[in-house]
Order: sequence, then C-alpha cells, then structure tokens
Amino acid sequence: MSPIPIILDCDPGHDDAMAMILAAYSPEIDLRGIVTVSGNGVIEKVTLNALRICALAKINVPVAQGAGQSLMGSGDAATYIHGESALDGADLPHPTFELSPESGVELIARLVSESDVPITLVATGPLTNIALFLKLYPDLISNVKEIVFMGGSAGRGNRSAYAEFNIWMDPDATDVVLKSGLPMTMCGLDVTHEALVTSEIFDRLHAMETPLSQTIIGLMKFFASTYNDVYEMPDPPLHDPVAIAVLIDREVVRSKHVNVEVELHGTFTRGATVVDIHNMDGRPANVTVALGLDAPKFWDLMLNAVELAGKA
Ligand code: BDR
Ligand code: CA
Repeated sequence: MSPIPIILDCDPGHDDAMAMILAAYSPEIDLRGIVTVSGNGVIEKVTLNALRICALAKINVPVAQGAGQSLMGSGDAATYIHGESALDGADLPHPTFELSPESGVELIARLVSESDVPITLVATGPLTNIALFLKLYPDLISNVKEIVFMGGSAGRGNRSAYAEFNIWMDPDATDVVLKSGLPMTMCGLDVTHEALVTSEIFDRLHAMETPLSQTIIGLMKFFASTYNDVYEMPDPPLHDPVAIAVLIDREVVRSKHVNVEVELHGTFTRGATVVDIHNMDGRPANVTVALGLDAPKFWDLMLNAVELAGKA
C-alpha cells in the first residue's frame, strides 16, 4: 500500500513534537506539510517549536504558521503543562530552514489542491485552521480523504470538568469540522490516557543512547512533572501521536462509529464533546471514536520512529 499523504496541524507542545516524529519516520505515512495553531503556547512560540523539532529530528517539509487565536478569540495557552516556551525541558536546536511565507490555511489549501490523491488532515491542536480551510476553500473539500484529530472525550475532560483542551480552545471550530460531512476519526482522552510514558518507556528511550533520545527524555521528564503536579498522574499521557498511529495501523485502537456533537452553550460544559455511544438521541453517526488503545503496539510504533529518527 502506498503511504498515506497527510498534513499535520499542531501546537508543539511535548506530545505534538512526538507526533511530528512519528509522522515523519513511519513508512506508512507521507508527511506533506506542517501547520501550526495557537494552543499549548501563543502562535509564535509553537511555530518556533515546530521549526526546532524539524531541526532536531531532521524533518524536512514545509512549515506554515496558522491561526493565532480561536474563531471567537477565546482560550488560554497550556503553559501549566508545557511550560513558558510551550516545549520546556530540553535545549532545542535553532531552526535550519525558514518558515513558509504562506499562512497555515494557504499551505493546507495548496497541498490539498496539488495532491493527486485525497489528503488526510491530522489535527493535534485546536481545530481552528481546519475550520477556516473548510469555510474558505469549499471546492477543495472533495480532495480531503479524512480528518483525524486528537481531542475531545467520551467522558470527563482535562481543561474543564467535561472539556478536553483542544476542543475547549475552539469549540466553534470543532462544530464546523463535526458538521463537515467528511469522514472523521476522533482520538480523545479515552484512548490517549492509555498512552502513558511509564518508566519502561523511559528505559527503552535510555537504551537508544542517541542525542535525540536524550533530548526526548528531557522533554518527557518535564511533561511528567507537570502532569504529576496538575493531574496527579506520574506517568503522563502522550496524547497526540495516537492520531498518527491510528493511520499507520487501524488496529491500534478499538473504535465505534457514533454521533458526536460539541457543547457550545453549556453553563459549565462549553467545549465538551457529546459522544452518543448507544445512539440514544437518534442522530446520525458522523465520527469514528477511538475508545480503547493497544498500548504495546502504540509504543512499538512510536519508539521505532524515535530510533529511526535518531539515526537519520
Ligand atoms: C491535548 O492538549 C494539549 O496540551 C496536548 O498537546 C494535546 O494535544 C491533550 O488534551
Ligand atoms: Ca497538541
């Protein structure tokens, strides 16, 4: 099977950085471009981080800066998890190439229009750029194969009691995406909280003994410490690469095709995804929701990519 062409829309971010590495170093994936969105940090910081991770892991694809705020202008950066730089915990190299002169949405549009096969859009940050793309370039939607996003939850949230961070940051953009009619896969907290960076994962990273694995250990230690402080989770969940892993091997998750809506007006629940697992409300299914993770398979994919990147 030929590799799946994707555009990665992200807000690096510790787990976004790992998603970039998994996408760039998996033969099943053809990473065509990277777009940034404000989320884990303000847009200038996450864009600089994307370029620095490209330098660190020798990823050579166009990178464009996307939306600097959500559609309605709300939301705060997740510095309490990712630190002041949005990627604290290790010294990262300076960028080795320039940012694309196009905006994030323009890069998505160009790559989608130039592709001879439909492209998959993978979002590991708020869905702002994807919503703007869908609204500004309706004629290009037919060349999008699927949208895969890390975000939401069938249960509790991590930014408010019921809202997951990426969706909480831009519920209005999420609403546009959910109503797009495109095939969609949601990798929410239900699965990403099973992708834990345990001491065994740290041991496997240590055993690689590459400069890249050492840098990743520094990043993951920082991520573990904030997760422990904020959520009392000593082994932090590596959310974002799950949205790439699912494309490499659909069997990495157990999923169900169901109706998903986003709460836009809740008193306490704005940004919560309403996942109707048993179709109690009778609305049509619009999203394949990942509900369980084959964690050993996920980690084999992730660590193989880190090993390959470390030798590049
Ligand atoms: C999501 O929020 C961000 O902090 C992470 O990068 C991930 O995309 C998890 O809720
Ligand atoms: Ca992210």
